[in-house]
Amino acid sequence: MSGGDALAKLREEALLAIEGVDSMQALQLVKTQYLGPKSTLMRQLKTLGGLPNEQKVTVGQTINRIKQDLEQNLTSKGRALQDKMQLTRLGNPPDPSLASPVHLQVPLHPLTQTRDKMLSIFTQLGFSIVEGPEIDTEWFCFDALNVPKNHPARNEQDTFFLPKSACVSSTSKRTDEDYLLRAHTSTVQIRTLLEHKPPLKIVSSGRVFRRDTVDATHNFNFHQTEGLCVSSETNLLDLKGTLDFFVRAFFGKPYNMRLRPSFFPFTEPSFEMDIFVPHLGKIKDTWIEVCGCGMVHPNVFEAVGLNGQEWQGFAFGFGVERLAMLLYGIDDVRRFYQNDARFLKQF
Ligand code: PHE
Repeated sequence: MSGGDALAKLREEALLAIEGVDSMQALQLVKTQYLGPKSTLMRQLKTLGGLPNEQKVTVGQTINRIKQDLEQNLTSKGRALQDKMQLTRLGNPPDPSLASPVHLQVPLHPLTQTRDKMLSIFTQLGFSIVEGPEIDTEWFCFDALNVPKNHPARNEQDTFFLPKSACVSSTSKRTDEDYLLRAHTSTVQIRTLLEHKPPLKIVSSGRVFRRDTVDATHNFNFHQTEGLCVSSETNLLDLKGTLDFFVRAFFGKPYNMRLRPSFFPFTEPSFEMDIFVPHLGKIKDTWIEVCGCGMVHPNVFEAVGLNGQEWQGFAFGFGVERLAMLLYGIDDVRRFYQNDARFLKQF
């Protein structure tokens, strides 16, 4: 074999070896083998001086061309290996030509739908919608509502009081009032009566907080829809008629309902409204309480500077979760808060 043929064979062999490696270490070994100081090519380059003059130039040029060739191939193989490693680390790049994934679309949360449905019925009856804060003071939540100082609802075991250090007013001045997470939406009755002179009819829906143990029908935060109607002659029949109309409109059919005498410090007389539920999942034939209500206590009017003899009013507070459970036939309130798309997309 002539010197030129041997070099050509060496080149082919080296290119094949480069092509076949699959790691940077293997590539380094191939590089040392074919271009390292002890490689055939480098040794031949060193012994060029011993060749006859006319061969020196041609052999020298051939060796240098092969050397450049191998170096180029080593470099591009190195880059290809690095790209491959990067891909393994990052995963395949997204294919922009593919159709975009289907995003799970769920309707409005069932509690939002229930709230909206309630509010729209009450607005049909002429109630205006108002809002109140979730963090409020003990005065709005209890004192102004005629709740005695020693009432169990004021207990820290029932209500979430906020540490004084967390209660900074908007002007950054500490206040001495006790702040809490409102335990009911009746706070908005007081806020409304302080701001607007009766006659008035308002409804308000929002979140309330109680230190309840979580189970199928209780949670430490839930939602209420509160109504208040005040005029000089509002009476118990107006309350009953309003609740009757509401239940019929909300469920789309008359429900068996009853007003059961009860007690709230801010209403006199007071009632709880129950709905008879023939069958609800695990819950069998039973009366379920959905609303507290009554005629506004004269002390509440007095607390906001109104004459308790001049004004009469009724108030009610519905549990939104309870109504949503009845409307949709759900027997565990916890399902509303689990954010499970399989549950939410049914509504
Ligand atoms: N605030 C009462 C509760 O949370 C409900 C209620 C509202 C009762 C208005 C009477 C009047 O249970």
